Amino acid sequence: MEMIIPQHVAIIVDGNGRWAKSKGMPRNYGHVRGAKNLERICEDAWDIGIKYLTVYLFSTENWKRSQEEVGALMQLFHRYAKTSLKTARDNNMRVRLLGDPSAFDEELQRSLQELVDSSKNNTGLNFQIALNYGSRDEITRAVRRIGEECREGLLSPQSITEQTIADHLDTAGIPDPDLLIRTSGEQRLSNYLMWQLAYTEFYFTTVPWPAFTKDDLMKAIETFNHRDRRFGGIKKEDE
Ligand code: IPE
Ligand code: IPE
Ligand code: MG
Repeated sequence: MEMIIPQHVAIIVDGNGRWAKSKGMPRNYGHVRGAKNLERICEDAWDIGIKYLTVYLFSTENWKRSQEEVGALMQLFHRYAKTSLKTARDNNMRVRLLGDPSAFDEELQRSLQELVDSSKNNTGLNFQIALNYGSRDEITRAVRRIGEECREGLLSPQSITEQTIADHLDTAGIPDPDLLIRTSGEQRLSNYLMWQLAYTEFYFTTVPWPAFTKDDLMKAIETFNHRDRRFGGIKKEDE
């Protein structure tokens, strides 16, 4: 039987800290290696035939971590935004941001915007990075904008559909994920893509993010292939 490759894979890249600790290293070492692994997995995903990859890099709750760790992560994002500029160009990747970047310092906001703008016509992997992202925050911001549009008379409350809401989310125009992967053993969503994951298959692995390889990605896809995918009633292949 031929393997079905999910069009859109979302990943909660978890376990950087624990992975580093297991090596007797500081948490930040795990974040650095985790960031490196992101570059690799983008190439692997594209090789495999995945068209959209969405990764969770910093949640709206992650500000509650120690000042030291948040500071180190911000530094890492600065560097990551710069190197990604080049990898996006080399690999023809289109990068989009999910989340609210307004909480970041201006320089980081600028380089993230540059990354998005400079890659917007690329036709390779669609790579979404969720930074200062939380599903509840995303939905709240969407509702606010819908409210504004109603007040301005551009929209009437009666005409609001599921599509209206989807169109106001940060993922507007991006198909829903087919497969969600969470690394490092935890089995929760941690405020990730709650609207978008309504019919997504979930795959949990104990492998920590910095150690997650192309083989691990293939294993997740194989498992996905053995699931009986149902969309609220009938199996897709019965349609
Ligand atoms: C995921 O790794 C990366 C971020 C949330 C920034 P963690 O930092 O959550 O690592 P663990 O889960 O504590 O091991
Ligand atoms: C989820 O991981 C957020 C990211 C991977 C960015 P966390 O490690 O922050 O989530 P919890 O705290 O275990 O739920
Ligand atoms: Mg974690």
